[in-house]
Amino acid sequence: MLGIGIVGLGYWGPNLVRNFSAAAEAEVRCVADRDAARLQKIHSLYPAVDLLSEATEVFQRSDIDAVVLATPINTHFPLAKMALEAGKHVLVEKPLATSRAEVLELMEIADRKGLQLMVDHTFLYTGAVQKIKSLVDSGELGELQYFDSTRINLGLFNPNWSVIWDLAVHDLSIFDYISSGKKPVAVSATGISHTQMGIEDIAYISLFFNDSTIAHITSSWISPVKIRKTMIGGSKKMVIYDDVEPTEKIKIYDSGFSVSSPEDMHRWLVDYRFGDIAIPKIAQTEALLGVAQDFVSAIVRGTRPISDRESGLNVVTILEAAQQSVKQRGQTVSLV
Ligand SMILES: NC(=O)c1ccc[n+]([C@@H]2O[C@H](COP(=O)([O-])OP(=O)(O)OC[C@H]3O[C@@H](n4cnc5c(N)ncnc54)[C@H](O)[C@@H]3O)[C@@H](O)[C@H]2O)c1
Repeated sequence: MLGIGIVGLGYWGPNLVRNFSAAAEAEVRCVADRDAARLQKIHSLYPAVDLLSEATEVFQRSDIDAVVLATPINTHFPLAKMALEAGKHVLVEKPLATSRAEVLELMEIADRKGLQLMVDHTFLYTGAVQKIKSLVDSGELGELQYFDSTRINLGLFNPNWSVIWDLAVHDLSIFDYISSGKKPVAVSATGISHTQMGIEDIAYISLFFNDSTIAHITSSWISPVKIRKTMIGGSKKMVIYDDVEPTEKIKIYDSGFSVSSPEDMHRWLVDYRFGDIAIPKIAQTEALLGVAQDFVSAIVRGTRPISDRESGLNVVTILEAAQQSVKQRGQTVSLV
């Protein structure tokens, strides 16, 4: 049994406690939070789990093999670094850290110590994203042409980090996964704050590649409606992934276009094809249990997790460049 310690019991941490408690080959032995009321809530549900008030107390325990960090974004790097230095495997909530340099430093420590470092990009473990990945990998969609994702709702404002670090991280991780780590060559992003905190609450990110793929992500905490919709266009088929839909989350459109070679610039012939729409059955298992089991398996069997540290690095690299572009009113930031 792997001894697990979970740090941070705010909004997200209790979900990790529940799923790690259900995971095979692992046992949640302690949790830590500075807030006594949050600790008590966990105690009422899991009386056998030890309660601690500070992350460092978890890192010092010899019965803890692996640490899960669900603390605010700016604490990810210092806490993950301390946990790795203390010899613990580490799963960090998204985003893995706040800069590419920080992620590279964590990777170096993990390598040096022979430890697992993983990030929780939860959506990669959903039946919907797994299905999209298999459609791309099998060639059913054809060449990836566009990825257009909208993730907007009203709240939860974060006083320290802009909306892209909170929401776009999901879309970027999904793109990274379904495209098998396709790297943008440049990023452009705009965004604005409507509060005195100066933290962008709405943002638009564009990713450019050295082929004809394009990706665009809309993130907002100030929308009156909740939309979680991703369109993925391939040269053969297109997919709409609507995460707000309870069951029919994915629709596959056998639609597309073809352009006949022009004899001259004014004689382009475009054929549009409107075919069947398929709604595949997708697995309904809880994504976070998949994250927990993947982390445990990586430690116990040395398997490569789906949401691995490279995925964390790729996403943070783009987030950092996007944030820089936002500060320069959309100026393109090169990634090569
Ligand atoms: N994967 C997802 O879908 C998902 C969803 C929501 C949040 N998150 C991530 O989870 C993380 C936490 O977000 P949240 O909304 O739950 O935050 P939160 O502010 O609600 O909770 C964070 C908790 O960490 C505790 N904490 C901070 N530093 C500590 C320390 N040194 N020792 C002990 N406790 C400490 C705080 O007391 C607080 O209770 C963030 O990284 C966020 O991006 C992920």
